[in-house]
Amino acid sequence: MTVLYFSATGNSLFVARQLASQSAHQLVSIPQAVKQGKKLFEDDQIGLVFPVHWILVPPYIQSFLRQVRLNSRYIFAVMTYGKMEGAAVSHLVRIAGKSNISFSYINTIRMVDNYLPTFSMDDEIASEPGKHIEEHLKSIRADVNNGKRWIPGDTLTNKVLSRTLMLYHPYKNGVGFTKNFRIEAACNGCGTCVKVCPVDNIQLVNRRPQFGLNCVSCLACTHHCPQNAIRLKGEKSRTRFRNQHVSLKDIIEANQ
Ligand SMILES: Cc1cc2nc3c(=O)[nH]c(=O)nc-3n(C[C@H](O)[C@H](O)[C@H](O)COP(=O)(O)O)c2cc1C
Repeated sequence: MTVLYFSATGNSLFVARQLASQSAHQLVSIPQAVKQGKKLFEDDQIGLVFPVHWILVPPYIQSFLRQVRLNSRYIFAVMTYGKMEGAAVSHLVRIAGKSNISFSYINTIRMVDNYLPTFSMDDEIASEPGKHIEEHLKSIRADVNNGKRWIPGDTLTNKVLSRTLMLYHPYKNGVGFTKNFRIEAACNGCGTCVKVCPVDNIQLVNRRPQFGLNCVSCLACTHHCPQNAIRLKGEKSRTRFRNQHVSLKDIIEANQ
């Protein structure tokens, strides 16, 4: 089994690790595959694990799916989300179909919502135990290991939503999101934001982070800043989040 993953705050990394926990399994970071130009993956089972962004498949993953070739008899996807998965499944099926990727199994798993402009991380972290993540993950793992074939049913609302949002997505290509970040005086130029950015969109200039125009809005820079010096416009809390099973080193290794 090969599990390809993309993760900003560790939820998807944790899930990917759990799915690929046997020694014969391979865990592959999507940002690294993209940077290395690796476009062909072959295995008996291939999985994709990534977060839902704005109730859809993140534009970064859409672009990856357009480039990649997956040769496998069983392709599956698990999307992590916080409050509302919305049209993500329907969207994934549609964009994958355009790239001739046919999924055998898709599931979603509810975890801490890391979207700062909507949620206070204090409340989100406090609500984590009620989400029964380990139990859900165990059942998804059993499904995948048994080669279960299942894709959740789609509703008309989700079909319409996914089509509309695809056309009118506010941050389709990442250009607009950059203006939402503000660096506070506490920044000491440590460069952690540079290291956790999956698309190398941040540079240090005179020991201050400068954002380019390729932001994929994953919020890795914001959540992992050791000085908590990156503010996001409209954020609901100063508290930041990293999945409890994942370290900063893991995120750096995954995204560099
Ligand atoms: C830009 C952005 C948009 C998001 N949109 C949604 C959403 O529409 N619905 C939802 O339930 N969670 C949403 N989330 C929360 C993430 O999907 C969730 O926290 C996910 O588990 C994060 O995974 P990661 O830790 O692997 O990055 C969003 C997060 C970000 C950063």
